[in-house]
Order: sequence, then structure tokens, then C-alpha cells
Amino acid sequence: MTRPVFESGLPLAPMAFHIATVEEADLPELAMLSQMVWNHQPSTLLNHMFPADKHAEMYDYRLAWLRIAFKEDFVLHFKMVDLSSNTIVSYASWDVPRPAVPDGDASDDESAKRPPKAMYPEGCNLAMIEEFYRERDRIADSHVNKTQDYVLRVLFTHPGYQSRGLASMMLRRMLERIDAERRRCYLEATPAGYPLYLKFGWKVVDEVRTDLAKYGAKDAPVELTPCMMRDASSLLPK
Ligand SMILES: CC(C)(COP(=O)(O)OP(=O)(O)OC[C@H]1O[C@@H](n2cnc3c(N)ncnc32)[C@H](O)[C@@H]1OP(=O)(O)O)[C@@H](O)C(=O)NCCC(=O)NCCS
Repeated sequence: MTRPVFESGLPLAPMAFHIATVEEADLPELAMLSQMVWNHQPSTLLNHMFPADKHAEMYDYRLAWLRIAFKEDFVLHFKMVDLSSNTIVSYASWDVPRPAVPDGDASDDESAKRPPKAMYPEGCNLAMIEEFYRERDRIADSHVNKTQDYVLRVLFTHPGYQSRGLASMMLRRMLERIDAERRRCYLEATPAGYPLYLKFGWKVVDEVRTDLAKYGAKDAPVELTPCMMRDASSLLPK
């Protein structure tokens, strides 16, 4: 890893990072980190979905989301900890292949994995959120075999720690397991994640089209979210 430097040009001491499984007590810190990540890197989609000024409500909403995901079976949550400050600086969650569930089984209902509507901050665009997730789930269902494939759900790195290879380390750790099992891995990419995923062997297989004009946007009427699959034969970058 390239050693980061102070503005003075003096090298920082090499940092030690550690990847570990997330514990329930980590969830508030992760919700705060997620808030920081998205405030630092605004997303066109999120800007149209959620109000910009409801920070406390957005924190509660993110925490509710994390708590639901944490209780789910067949989801792995990993954190990267900066050992010098004992703070979480990167997070990834993955769906792992699960046993087949009979048709109509509630455990297969994607909408149950999101916070109830009452948890959504006032001022958010519920119609847009519901339409986006309906379309996203429809496309994912058409590509993902839940009994066979992995899905990268979430990946983010603290803004002050980005471009140092931390997300790459998180990806590499899990992809070694996925490759050893010769499994595929699916994800939906943000603009920030897209180049990284290409480098690690994911390819675009579909896209979620969100017609923002329907929700009042004039300058960028259609937002495309790439849906990507990494085949079992993909190679990790050197
Ligand atoms: C996308 C995201 C997770 C990447 O995290 P990261 O920790 O900065 O990722 P990495 O450092 O591993 O890689 C990012 C870039 O840094 C470069 N990099 C990797 N190792 C490096 C190192 N040792 N030193 C400097 N740069 C390095 C990578 O080449 C990559 O550059 P590239 O995009 O031009 O190829 C981060 O930008 C983020 O959290 N964004 C907001 C949330 C988001 O969009 N998440 C993706 C959801 S799909």
C-alpha cells in the first residue's frame, strides 16, 4: 500500500488495519460512518429520495436498516478497523448462498428487509424509493440464484481513508473465499464503486433505470445504476 504523507511531506507511520466480523454493538458507529460517507459523496439518487436537512432522522433510518440487515440469516458483515484509533473505517456486507425456500415464504420477501415506512424521514420521496427498490429487486431476481450466488450488498470507506486500498482489501478477502467455492457474485454499483468493481472482474449485465423527470428533475432526467456480475472464472487483480 502507498504510504500516505502529511501535507508537510513527512511520511505518516504505517497504519495497521484489521478486518473483523461486525458485532451488534458496532451498529451505531456504522450508521454514523454511513451518514458521513453519503454526506461526503452526494448521490443523485439519494438526493432525490431523501431530504438533505434531516440528519438525525436519517441517522435513525440508517441504523434501523443496519439492525434489520444484522438480524437476517445468510448475510455476512465485515468491518475494517484502524487499530491506531480503534475506529471502523470501512464496511462491507454480503449475501451468501442460502438453502432454497418454498415459493411464498416470507423470508424471501426483499421489502421486509427494509425499514417500515414509519421509519422513513419526513420529506422523503416514498413513491420514488418504492419504485426504485421494486425495479432493483426485479432485476436482481432475474440474475441472481440465491442458492448459488453471492451478492455484495454494501461497501463503503470513511472519506478520510479512501483511495488507500481499504475497499480493495475488503473485496479481496471475501473474493478469495468466493473464488475458492467457484461462485458468482452480483452487485449494483454506485459511480464511485464502478471502476473498482471493473478492476476486480465484475461486468455489467443490466441496469436499473430511474426516471428522475417523474420526480421533478430537469437537468439529469434518467439515472442509470449498473447491475454487475462477477463470474466464477474471474481472476483477482495482481
Ligand atoms: C467506492 C469506495 C467504497 C472505494 O473505497 P476505497 O477504500 O477508497 O477503495 P480503494 O482505495 O480500494 O480503491 C479506490 C481507488 O484507490 C486506488 N487505490 C487502491 N489502493 C491504493 C493505495 N494503496 N494507495 C492509493 N490508492 C489506492 C484504487 O486503484 C482505486 O482507484 P481507481 O478507482 O482509480 O482504480 C468509496 O469510494 C466509498 O465508500 N464511496 C461511497 C460509497 C459507495 O459508493 N460505495 C460503493 C457502493 S456500490
